[in-house]
Amino acid sequence: MLFWNTARMSRSLVLNGGRPLIGDIEVRGAKNLVSKAMVAVVLAEEPCRLRGVPEISDVQIVAGLLELHGVKIDSSDRDGELLLDPTNVEQAHVADIDAHAGSSRVPVLLCGPLLHRLGEAFIPDLGGCRIGERPINFHLDVLRTFGAVVDKRPEGLRLTAPHGLKGADIQLPYPSVGTTEQVLLTAVRAEGTTVLRNAAIEPEIMDLVAILQKMGAIISVQTDRRIEIEGVPRLGGFDHLAIPDRIEAGSWACAALATAGDIYVRGAQQQPMMAFLNVFRRVGGSFDIDDEGIRFWHSGGDINSLAIETDVHPGLMTDWQQPLVVALTQTRGLSIIHETVYENRLGFTSALGEMGAQIQTYRNCLGSSPCRFSRANFQHSAVVSGPARLRGAEITVPDLRGGFSYLIAALAAEGTSKVHGIDLIYRGYENFSTKLDAVGADYDLI
Ligand code: EPU
Repeated sequence: MLFWNTARMSRSLVLNGGRPLIGDIEVRGAKNLVSKAMVAVVLAEEPCRLRGVPEISDVQIVAGLLELHGVKIDSSDRDGELLLDPTNVEQAHVADIDAHAGSSRVPVLLCGPLLHRLGEAFIPDLGGCRIGERPINFHLDVLRTFGAVVDKRPEGLRLTAPHGLKGADIQLPYPSVGTTEQVLLTAVRAEGTTVLRNAAIEPEIMDLVAILQKMGAIISVQTDRRIEIEGVPRLGGFDHLAIPDRIEAGSWACAALATAGDIYVRGAQQQPMMAFLNVFRRVGGSFDIDDEGIRFWHSGGDINSLAIETDVHPGLMTDWQQPLVVALTQTRGLSIIHETVYENRLGFTSALGEMGAQIQTYRNCLGSSPCRFSRANFQHSAVVSGPARLRGAEITVPDLRGGFSYLIAALAAEGTSKVHGIDLIYRGYENFSTKLDAVGADYDLI
């Protein structure tokens, strides 16, 4: 079993804000790659080694799910290295999967690999989370296109493939990250060729493609969001160092900006963060890139308000939006945010209002990017008026990224804040309390 104990993690902290964060922290493998790389192990018929694995509770959840399916997992002597042996993959009880997975969407990604290995997959019907409905209709549609039969039962979804899984021609209605991964994880061992159009091309997906290639897959990524996958009958193991977590890196960069601080993020890479770096520079933040990481700091004086729109890669990723909004409360003038990926990712702003931020949300599209929510009734745009003098408050974390943003707000605010529900933040921010120490934050876990 795995190595760190999430049960001991605190649920609240008390924090005295109003001082610049200064220091060095390190980011390791990206949560949104590591969990998928672990799922890919189920496709392999040999042991795999994954390096750069962060100690976050999402990894713990996926590890538990894999163990329920018979995958043997050990941590090696080297820090952040997992050895995963899928030789004896077996069926798990859906009630156990449900109890273990919580709100994680990883079980749906196990469907293709389990169908290949066992001819059957049985998963709980997955709920959404507070950032939007997060349905799995695209996932089930593509699985059906490969030949899977989905049987909805009271206890969950049972999938079978009576005639095997066959390569397919698939056009996604939206470049969904998870559905693109679903197609990759199913097509690599399906019979024949799959053509996927309108695919997501996030760097984490390209890293998953790299892992699958190491395992023996044949995948070509074209320039027009088209991915072609030639199915192969068997896949071997892999040894891979996960791409670093650009969401975590961007979150700490926003903490530096919002607190007028200076943080060196070891492990941060320029290329996957180009859209973020452009925004950071436009707003008036400074950064310096070297071979080991990126230093982010507040340039002094006023920082600029600006208009941002989230989008699929290579656009500005939605997971940077929440920490950026907190930094934008400290800029002079009006900033505009248009969230085009999730219909409901601005709910976290109401607590910021209680801390003194001036943020108004709107149903209209305040931006020019094509948006699926233009005629729907979702508060998916916001205007932030700054600079706001934030004051400490008692707040409860709403979701992972909103939660880290509350930490940033509390760090930037004058006075004391109590932040509850911080166990959600451990899902995606490794050892964040140790990192708070490293940048000089004044806080206590309670
Ligand atoms: N969508 C559907 N139907 C589906 C699948 C998606 O309507 O079957 C919609 C979603 O509701 C959403 C949009 O498509 O509005 C995009 O969803 P996508 O499938 O791209 O997201 P995901 O795969 O569920 C991953 C990350 C998210 C990240 C998004 C977008 C993981 C585990 N999660 O989610 O990360 O925001 O891509 O980049 O990789 C986070 O790390 O905090 C997080 C939420």
